[in-house]
Amino acid sequence: MRSVVLGVSAGIAVYKACELLRLFTESGHDVRVVPTRDALRFVGEPTWAALSGNPVTTEVWDSVHEVPHVRIGQHADLVVVAPATADVLARAAHGLANDLLTNTLLTARCPVVFAPAMHTEMWEHPATRANVATLRERGSIVVDPAVGRLTGADSGPGRLPDPAEIFEVCRRVLTGRAPDLAGRHVVISAGGTREAIDPVRFIGNRSSGLQGYALARTAVARGAEVTLVSANVALPDPAGAKVVRVETAVDLREAVVSAAAHADAVVMAAAVADFRPSRQSGTKIKKSSAEPDPIHLVKNPDVLAELGEIRREGIAPSPRVIVGFAAETDDVLANGRAKLERKGCDLLVVNQVGENLAFGTPDNAAVVLVAGGDPVEIPRGPKEDLADVVWDLVASRLA
Ligand SMILES: Cc1cc2nc3c(=O)[nH]c(=O)nc-3n(C[C@H](O)[C@H](O)[C@H](O)COP(=O)(O)O)c2cc1C
Repeated sequence: MRSVVLGVSAGIAVYKACELLRLFTESGHDVRVVPTRDALRFVGEPTWAALSGNPVTTEVWDSVHEVPHVRIGQHADLVVVAPATADVLARAAHGLANDLLTNTLLTARCPVVFAPAMHTEMWEHPATRANVATLRERGSIVVDPAVGRLTGADSGPGRLPDPAEIFEVCRRVLTGRAPDLAGRHVVISAGGTREAIDPVRFIGNRSSGLQGYALARTAVARGAEVTLVSANVALPDPAGAKVVRVETAVDLREAVVSAAAHADAVVMAAAVADFRPSRQSGTKIKKSSAEPDPIHLVKNPDVLAELGEIRREGIAPSPRVIVGFAAETDDVLANGRAKLERKGCDLLVVNQVGENLAFGTPDNAAVVLVAGGDPVEIPRGPKEDLADVVWDLVASRLA
């Protein structure tokens, strides 16, 4: 159990910090919430006290005999400020100490993580840029905000990343992991492709994108530049990743092959359709009393095999590490080994499909087959854990 201070300042996204708090407490950490005065206008003290099980104060004048303005920061293993307003970033960068949170930031000797959230104009203002640069120079981690819908109808960079992403960065900081993918560019495909039959119907698959997005989040947290090729995924964009949206296997091939030319590693976690209808109707196929026409299928490009071939033949610049995923229902290992050789990849993550594993669940279990090495068994656990094992193997191959 670690001692975590969760600072919350007065951004509209403050309600998302309740979920972040739950992620900390459910993983057994002791969390002390230190809101700013204005943050309590959005979410009140009873919510923070009940969810954390700890007293909540905003001022240095409460429980003065315990000297909270010094003690809370001194005893923390991690301080995370989420959301961090433009105002709190400015006060922290300038060393102000006019409430309990900023006093805590000055007394903390542990790692400090800021997750800013604000309108794009505020985020891009030179004053905020300079404050963020100052905080980073001093060793704080400032998570880049996500791009997306802001308060009202606005949209752009400034959105608070998903609580799971902020938690992932914090978890990594608490376990003392180094950013071992810093300076590396990785490409990840996620989700499942859709192959149109007509304008309203398609052939698809059950992939939710959860594993690919966990791979993207963990790669960002480990310092990588991430391109995420996302096929039909209904999840928020991972902060700090460049997201390229695709629909079909042909689109996905185009996006992955072009990004792979500048990548150190490619991880093909997407479920790519092997076949597509040879013909797509331009208009909706009508239900009629006549028997429907059979759907004739043609083969889709095999993206993983193509990446292996480009590398083998030296046709174009190619990634040093290629990772495939295989979902199998039977003869899992034998089928996986054959696929590893056939595709010419370095690692193959083999999932057994079924029993609440693989599709649409937060957990996964797999065996990673390693070209020229022993397989690595990954017991059932969060998809982030599986992602970390994959990145461990990738990082050691890149080193
Ligand atoms: C509805 C509303 C939403 C706001 N959202 C944000 C925000 O997302 N980010 C931000 O930096 N400031 C936001 N502000 C402005 C801050 O609340 C204001 O700067 C406040 O003084 C910050 O106080 P604090 O940094 O002490 O928490 C918002 C204000 C209002 C009224």
